[in-house]
Amino acid sequence: MKIAISGKGGVGKTTLAGALARYIADLKYKVLAIDADPDANLASAIGISKELLKGVKPISEMKELISERTGAKSGSFGGMFILNPKVDDLPEKFSIEYKGVKMMLLGVVESAGTGCFCPENTLLKALLRHLFVARDEVVIVDMEAGLEHLSRGTTAYVNKFIVVVEPGQRSFQTARQIRDLAKELNVKDVWIVGNKIKSEEDRDLIKKELSDFSILGFLSYNDKIIESDKLGISPYDLSDGLRKEIEEIWNNINNL
Ligand SMILES: Nc1ncnc2c1ncn2[C@@H]1O[C@H](COP(=O)(O)OP(=O)(O)O)[C@@H](O)[C@H]1O
Ligand SMILES: [Mg+2]
Repeated sequence: MKIAISGKGGVGKTTLAGALARYIADLKYKVLAIDADPDANLASAIGISKELLKGVKPISEMKELISERTGAKSGSFGGMFILNPKVDDLPEKFSIEYKGVKMMLLGVVESAGTGCFCPENTLLKALLRHLFVARDEVVIVDMEAGLEHLSRGTTAYVNKFIVVVEPGQRSFQTARQIRDLAKELNVKDVWIVGNKIKSEEDRDLIKKELSDFSILGFLSYNDKIIESDKLGISPYDLSDGLRKEIEEIWNNINNL
């Protein structure tokens, strides 16, 4: 099962990715959670402490690894490099594990702009392709709204492409933009998870405004999620209510 999670900043992508990863690990599946958002904070949503995270460097910052794998000499922008670098050993080497969830930090490509053709990007894209195509565990990717790390070859293997929204026009607008980008990447279905739901009206608003999307499920507005963030622990460990809702979303991921 391969799951990509996108959406506007602040809607709850990381909260969903972290809680879902923990839930699936509790079911004894192997889970690999990938932080591919420049605003990286998936670790805390999983419950990984600052201490454990200390030694972890994003793949995009591993200059030596990047030049070793792609054959690119540093500073030789525009030079030749390998387009299909070896990446299959990276998840074992550069992930950290907590409560059955393995996590990797991808990081940002500095000169990115729109899909920069550089060694860092090539390595990250190759890595994501490997994770989606060749790995047998559940892979969950917490992404930015720009879908920078994805490519057509990758998205064919995504089982559930999820966009998280909150009840509000701005996140709906982002969802539509993401769907347009996703279309270019040949993604068939874009699934909505509505987050921060306070009432039946909130659900109805999402269903009405995004009626041409498929709905995967909803997460209630939950003070425990805010509290867990203050305490620096996973919301999954603080809220039984969240766990129940995550269970339903996981069931829908498999059955819808
Ligand atoms: N269901 C919810 N109820 C209350 N607060 C939430 C909920 N989901 C997320 N939050 C809070 O909203 C903020 C943004 O969530 P986050 O998961 O980091 O979003 P994103 O990854 O999309 O930027 C965080 O402070 C988080 O604690
Ligand atoms: Mg996030």
